[in-house]
Amino acid sequence: MAAVIDTLPSPVRLQAVAAPGQPEPTPALSQLYRGFEEELLVPLWTQIGSLMPPHPRSKAAPHLWRWERLKQLAAEAGQLVPVGRGGERRAIALANPALGGQPYATPTLWAAIQYLMPGEHAPEHRHTQNAFRFVVEGEGVWTVVNGDAVRMARGDFLPQAGWNWHAHHNAATEPMAWIDGLDIPFAYYTESQFFEHGRDQLS
Ligand SMILES: [Fe+2]
Repeated sequence: MAAVIDTLPSPVRLQAVAAPGQPEPTPALSQLYRGFEEELLVPLWTQIGSLMPPHPRSKAAPHLWRWERLKQLAAEAGQLVPVGRGGERRAIALANPALGGQPYATPTLWAAIQYLMPGEHAPEHRHTQNAFRFVVEGEGVWTVVNGDAVRMARGDFLPQAGWNWHAHHNAATEPMAWIDGLDIPFAYYTESQFFEHGRDQLS
């Protein structure tokens, strides 16, 4: 828990407005709102429309990423970007065009194309973020989860609960690419992100 900070200026701004459901604007009401601002208080009656709308309003916009183009760029990354400790994965996230360049496909989902060259090893780690893998094409990569090797092939959907050890190894002679999905934005909102490195070598 961070230390209490009382030197920051209040970011709360309230304006008395004449509108249905709002109290009548008066000098006394404005004075009340100045008191709220100073004490970092926000009354529900000025917020209800945005806090509790009649239906969800997504910040995301529809967008179509073409697999062929994704794979082409991922293959170029395969030639230029090593995979290993630090970056952990050669994974390239889909950035929804309405989310300001954040690496999120939707407000709650991080989704990426992951590309692994023949013989490459994506190191073992674990995190509280839950994950899935969806194999669009190819085969020959093994995902090792808590020491158990799980084969991945076209059409496979592999859900994985958070905080389980996992690594990937491409035992095939061809590169392989698949889609990763993690609830990274959701974990970020709930401030519940934990991460640990695992073994450097799988036995
Ligand atoms: Fe991971």
